[in-house]
Formats: sequence, C-alpha cells, structure tokens
Amino acid sequence: MKVKDKEFSIFIDRAKILERVAALAKEINQDYEGKTPLFVAVLNGSFMFASDLMKGIEISAEISFIKLNSYNRTHSTGKVKELIGLDENIFGRHLIIIEDIVDTGLTIKHMLEELRELGPKSVEIATLLHKKEATKEPLSLRYVGFEIPKKFVIGYGLDYDGHARNLNDIYSLAN
Ligand code: PRP
Repeated sequence: MKVKDKEFSIFIDRAKILERVAALAKEINQDYEGKTPLFVAVLNGSFMFASDLMKGIEISAEISFIKLNSYNRTHSTGKVKELIGLDENIFGRHLIIIEDIVDTGLTIKHMLEELRELGPKSVEIATLLHKKEATKEPLSLRYVGFEIPKKFVIGYGLDYDGHARNLNDIYSLAN
C-alpha cells in the first residue's frame, strides 16, 4: 500500500496484534492485582495500543496521557523534547508507561529520568514494539508485544509524516 511517496507491505495483522495485546493485559492484571496502577500513555503513537490494552484491564486502574516527541519523518533525530501533560500526582503510585515503539530508547530513558524524580513507587514499561537492535540505552522493558527488526513501521498508531496512524494493521517499508 502506498502512503505519501512510499510503498509499504503488511507486517503484523490486526488479529495478531489484538491477540498479543490481550495477553499483555492479562499479564498486567495478574502482576498488579490490588495495586491500582496509573497507566501513562505517550502520545501520539500509543493511542490505539493504549485503547486496546485498557479494554483488557480488569483490575482497578487509572490512565493519563503525556506527550514527548523525538522523531523527524523516518529517522530518529536523537533530540528529546519536553514532557507535557502529566497533571496527576504520581508520588507513591505504580506507573505503567504505554509506548507504541521503543527504537533508540532515548525517549523512554528521558521520560524515566523525569518521572522517577516525582517519586513513583514503581515504574514499568509496556511497549507494543521493540527494535532491540536499535536500542542503545540499557532498558528493562517489562511488557513487550513484539520484538521487531530495524524496519520503518507504520499503522496502528504509528505514523509516516503524520499519516497512517489510522490503519488497523502494522505495515513496514517495502524494500
Ligand atoms: C515515537 C514513539 C516513541 C519514540 C521512540 O514517537 O512513539 O515515543 O518515537 O523512539 P526512540 O526510542 O528512538 O526514542 P514520535 O516522536 O514519533 O511521536 P509520535 O508518538 O507522536 O508519533
């Protein structure tokens, strides 16, 4: 399928995504029983994953949305912007950060540093995708949907220059 000037092909279909997301929710339900975690979803990319993940959460929980960008078109710029939108008091809370993708790991690293200063009781990461080979930072990712190779991926929240976030499946750049 063509998005703007580039050709993409199907990479992970909707059914597979939903099955994996439901399994992650189940794990979280078990791990956080009786703890009322605060999910912190990182906009924009995580909105679909966050929505489907939360549908499977059966324990008491809250969700909040923050924003912090680092991408410029298809290449990570390494630049990290300010964290905005966190209006909850996270002191003493169990946080679960929801990300669509961990690439270089810079975004998550920066966010963890900022959030830890605010005194949460624990912080774990739930990411739908992880480009393990691209991650330079030593990170412990507790919930990972799919380990993927260093491909440019779009759909299910992930964009190409603002487009394709609405696609129900995940696509990768065709070679
Ligand atoms: C993407 C993604 C992560 C980050 C991962 O966000 O949602 O936040 O990049 O890259 P890194 O591990 O190399 O830091 P992006 O900046 O594209 O914003 P978006 O969520 O609005 O698409």
